[in-house]
Amino acid sequence: MPPPREYNILSIHSHKGGVGKSTLAAVLGIALARDGRKVCLVDLDLLAPGLHRVLQARPTCRPVLDYLVSDPAHPGSHAKAAEVCAPPKMEFTDAPEILLVHGEVDVPRARALQAYLLTDYRTGLVQARLERLLDEIHQIHRANTFVLDTPPSLYGVSGAARDLLGPERALAVYVCTPTRPDLLGTQELLTHLAPTHGGDVAEAFVLNLFEPAGPLDNADPDGVRRAVLAEMARLTPPPGSAAGDPSAAASFAPMLAGMRVGFLPRLGPLAFLSAPDPGKPALSVSDILARDAVALAGSLVAALDATAPGGAAP
Ligand SMILES: Nc1ncnc2c1ncn2[C@@H]1O[C@H](COP(=O)(O)OP(=O)(O)OP(=O)(O)O)[C@@H](O)[C@H]1O
Ligand SMILES: [Mg+2]
Repeated sequence: MPPPREYNILSIHSHKGGVGKSTLAAVLGIALARDGRKVCLVDLDLLAPGLHRVLQARPTCRPVLDYLVSDPAHPGSHAKAAEVCAPPKMEFTDAPEILLVHGEVDVPRARALQAYLLTDYRTGLVQARLERLLDEIHQIHRANTFVLDTPPSLYGVSGAARDLLGPERALAVYVCTPTRPDLLGTQELLTHLAPTHGGDVAEAFVLNLFEPAGPLDNADPDGVRRAVLAEMARLTPPPGSAAGDPSAAASFAPMLAGMRVGFLPRLGPLAFLSAPDPGKPALSVSDILARDAVALAGSLVAALDATAPGGAAP
């Protein structure tokens, strides 16, 4: 039996692309670091990495790909963990200390990777390397909370990240936007794919870009669950019924029953998502972290901490 893991993993997933995974990863990472955790953000969107851009961080070390997959020209030439993990330079006036494993690679390397990852066997190798990377960063930097930003779907590297999660100290977070195609696709993903990726992992569902009709607080996950189910019912009425028929939500209800449910409204100003403007004073983290985002981080981390043996964070 492997020794129990001594650090936490939050792995961010989605059905569709562009629904806010990287935004959520960045927001969570910053909120948790500000809360005193030693956070490491890992960009696993190997073909289209962007977490460093979301953070406006210029990579100063080698990309994660150099650790996960050896250079085809030099088999066995993996980078060391210390070479792919560094604190990024962030522009906020009060940026918390955070570690970043960035994903930036050139297009030919990303293309070669796409071909390489076509077999499950190779994805398995990447998974083993990823697990080792987290262990080593935990040892080198004492990182205690990893936030993994993954590509859409639960295949390939995303599936590998999801498969890493065990029943302890781990949370799979599914991000979705309030649109009919995304909701139906996410439901399909969770119903048909997630069970094959290991049954007893704690899970969370985050409705991003959700503008609730009335006051809603992530500190009240049951209230958020009801509001999210009502929104699902509104957006996906069953054939032949009026919009808002609660029976539409009924098909989502069992899916969400065992999950922590949260939401993120449209955030602004998302300074780290626009080009830095040298004429403008740098924003503080507090300007960016809306109350809802802080409460969401608190809710997800409570769900995560509940998976630690004895219920305590490491
Ligand atoms: N809560 C939010 N408030 C404001 N803008 C948001 C929010 N969430 C996402 N966005 C915007 O939506 C776009 C896509 O977000 P993001 O890059 O985080 O999605 P993603 O799921 O990581 O995409 P990909 O699948 O391509 O990696 C970005 O322009 C981002 O600024
Ligand atoms: Mg992304």
